[in-house]
Amino acid sequence: MKMILTSFIYLFIFIVSSSLASEPITPLPKVLTDIDWEKARLGKILFFDPILSSDRSVSCASCHDILNAGGADKRVVSLGIADMQGNIQSPTVLNSRYNFKQFWNGRVDTLLEQASGPIHNPVEMALNASTVEKRLNSNREYQKRFYALGHEQRITFAMVLAAIVEFEKALVTPNSPFDQYLRGERRLDDTTMRGYQHFKKLGCITCHNGKNVGGNSFQKMGLITPYEHDEGFPDLFATTKRELHKNVFKVPTLRNIELTAPYFHDGSSDTLKDAIETMSHHNLGYSHTDEEVETITAFLRSLTGETPAIMKE
Ligand code: HEC
Ligand code: HEC
Repeated sequence: MKMILTSFIYLFIFIVSSSLASEPITPLPKVLTDIDWEKARLGKILFFDPILSSDRSVSCASCHDILNAGGADKRVVSLGIADMQGNIQSPTVLNSRYNFKQFWNGRVDTLLEQASGPIHNPVEMALNASTVEKRLNSNREYQKRFYALGHEQRITFAMVLAAIVEFEKALVTPNSPFDQYLRGERRLDDTTMRGYQHFKKLGCITCHNGKNVGGNSFQKMGLITPYEHDEGFPDLFATTKRELHKNVFKVPTLRNIELTAPYFHDGSSDTLKDAIETMSHHNLGYSHTDEEVETITAFLRSLTGETPAIMKE
């Protein structure tokens, strides 16, 4: 009897896990087991500290507002030191560890390679490695904090980047209603479920899928209906110079998307409704009914997860 019961339990687990595996979107982990939390806490302090910019006016958080803008920037274009304008909309840092590459045009592979970019960028933070080291080594607080992590020698730029990356790795937003649904922990209302069905049937899912509902391929903005190309934006063409890479970007994650307006690389959409319609027109050659837009909006809202644990400390 016990054996039969055990087999049933295994069969049940198998059915549940294989039905999960067949969903094109997969949940984020509930608990992170690969974080050095002390290092991540130091990274958090650095992320919010304008000491990393030449005139001490800008921190990573200035353009990646985790608490109010889903880790992105409410401004169409971020402002760096001396209010200098960047050249593209600021993407979210939340869940960025799950993107296959970093930056809109994927010009670096890892968060570690990414992190020095804004610090050195002349219109963002404009600081070189040796000045960062000089500033932090003459700061008693940072000396103590790095020392507490077991670094007995002087603080190096590499240690600073490693701490920031550890913090970014902890910026995961678990337990969105949709993830809970995927894990079989709850049901979703009909509107949200209809939105998910439309999202799959219409083909949004071909580009926005996986753990990050995006972030795992390059695709063209304007695949079906051409989107005006502006040389000023760093698209894939900017690095490869191949014609067919004009307006090609890393597909953005749709996690927490209701929090990260304005949308697109040029910040041209202010609302989810507009973003969905623009996407359909340019990338699917399709014009939505109101019902479709409303339900897809509800589905996208169900992708908003919890504030990362490290931000609640
Ligand atoms: C002045 C505004 C500004 C500052 C300051 C800034 N960023 Fe960014 N960040 C951006 C913009 C704009 C992009 C997109 C650039 C691109 O794709 O060409 C970006 C991209 C990123 C990405 C890639 C995300 C993705 O999905 O591709 C990460 C990660 C990131 N920044 C982390 C940081 C960290 C860490 C710091 C501090 C060391 C920082 N940023 C400082 C504006 C800023
Ligand atoms: C052919 C691939 C493809 C398809 C199909 C597609 N998208 Fe996208 N999506 C992209 C790319 C690429 C971007 C970034 C475009 C840009 O910024 O210029 C994007 C951006 C977005 C954004 C804005 C994200 C942000 O952070 O700014 C939303 C919202 C979105 N898509 C929703 C949808 C919906 C809803 C559908 C279906 C109606 C859909 N997408 C279909 C590739 C696709």
